[in-house]
Amino acid sequence: MNKWYIVLSSEEVKRNRITRARRFGIDIVFWRDSKNEVHAIDAKCPHRGANLGLGEIVNDCVQCPYHGFLYDGNGIAVLIPSLGKSAKINPNYMVRSFKVKEFMNSYSCGMVIKIPKKISGGLKVLMNPILFNH
Ligand code: FES
Repeated sequence: MNKWYIVLSSEEVKRNRITRARRFGIDIVFWRDSKNEVHAIDAKCPHRGANLGLGEIVNDCVQCPYHGFLYDGNGIAVLIPSLGKSAKINPNYMVRSFKVKEFMNSYSCGMVIKIPKKISGGLKVLMNPILFNH
């Protein structure tokens, strides 16, 4: 692993709306922010395990449907409502995120994500790697 894999077509990811997909045995939440950038994070909230795919997009972040934590495109918790808006949040409080790139060629357009080696052990690769090696 540690290569880029095709995961979705571009039109499947809409601005300010969550798209859920299971890839490589991982439930992943995708969304397109107000600057048209696509983000991908693990769908399991690290707080109490709620499905972030059932949340919504607030201020370009994913809001957990259970206690309302907000996670940005890097998976970092930027708001914990019970602590208040001005609370300083431990930067280690985060959900796993994935690098995303969109591509376009003469056949199609879509997006790829990079699955880091450290989380890929034991995962069954369901799709063929494509030729992005960064
Ligand atoms: S389970 Fe997600 S914020 Fe509590």
